[in-house]
Amino acid sequence: MMKAIKQIGVLTGGGDAPGLNAVIRAVVKTATNEYGWSVLGIEDGFEGLLGETRTRPLRPSDVRGLLPRGGTILGTRNRGHFAIQRVEEKIIKPEAAYREAVANIERLRLDALVVIGGDGTQTIAYEFFQRGVPLVGVPKTIDNDLVGTELTFGFLTALDVATEALDRLHTTAESHDRVMVLEVMGRHAGWIALEAGLAGGADVILIPEIPFYIEKAASRVLERERNGRAFTIIVVAEGAVPVDGSPVYQDRGNAQSQPRLGGIGHVVADAIQQLTGKETRVVVLGHLQRGGSPTAYDRLLASSFGVAAVRALAAGEFGNMVCLKCGEIVTCPLSEAVLQIKRVPPDGQLVKTARNLGITFAGEDD
Ligand code: F6P
Repeated sequence: MMKAIKQIGVLTGGGDAPGLNAVIRAVVKTATNEYGWSVLGIEDGFEGLLGETRTRPLRPSDVRGLLPRGGTILGTRNRGHFAIQRVEEKIIKPEAAYREAVANIERLRLDALVVIGGDGTQTIAYEFFQRGVPLVGVPKTIDNDLVGTELTFGFLTALDVATEALDRLHTTAESHDRVMVLEVMGRHAGWIALEAGLAGGADVILIPEIPFYIEKAASRVLERERNGRAFTIIVVAEGAVPVDGSPVYQDRGNAQSQPRLGGIGHVVADAIQQLTGKETRVVVLGHLQRGGSPTAYDRLLASSFGVAAVRALAAGEFGNMVCLKCGEIVTCPLSEAVLQIKRVPPDGQLVKTARNLGITFAGEDD
């Protein structure tokens, strides 16, 4: 028989995203008011479950005013001690860290967890579930690259920021007859670049899913020039790659840290300037996309996810992630959600729409 829940833990892992605090608020309110459970906030992701554990009680009074606040009051970390090691092609899981954390979960009398995070965090959550920890995941990432859910919270806020940046770049590009390159986030998936490019009227969109020929992007700049449009807007996802090329890293990472992408904007701009002779400028939008207040819909989605996660715990639906499907909040198995990431289909509707609007991806089919 399922153990009755008296207290749950909640944590946020991975990169922050607008809406994390709204989820925490919804979890605390629902758990306390609907089910009479206590909630313990775990600080700094799963790291807060190691060593001298870092937790704090969360009552409804502790989450007042959180709905519009960016970041996470609990703090967040990337994989940290739960990162897997690769030794001679073999994957080594950090069993000692899992053992210690599971023992601490029992010692803290946490009957279940709500784990808010992206693919890395949900992969770790699934490992905990397989080691007997009852939990439910909540999908977060500005990249919108989690399978299982049509939308992750944080994405729409990032999309608005990137679109506003493109609007602003348009007026200055047009005034100076320049090429403007905007580098946006998107490690393996180009959703932000694609959707902001569409919403912000970009001329060239470069995404990880469609390897690009820089010559084709340059031709578009020159073609526009011939048609009397002396400026061009290019949006490039940080993970975009040239055909026969490789991603550009700011930092290749080491045993303790993940590799960090960044710099493709400059590579694209230098090449465009050389091939077209046109003055070119670069803007790297970076963490502006992740900071600040969530948009109205992200608040709504984050709140709905938070409530649904607590309901799923109450229903004993452990090992699942809450997700959005056809406008409904449902659950899907974590085992499926962490199998792969959701990438832009190169022959999908949005890519076709962009091409019909005259946008080029500078790829094989453009
Ligand atoms: O996963 C979200 C994301 O924003 C990626 O697009 C980006 O590569 C990464 O986080 C950067 O994270 P950080 O700078 O926090 O390591």
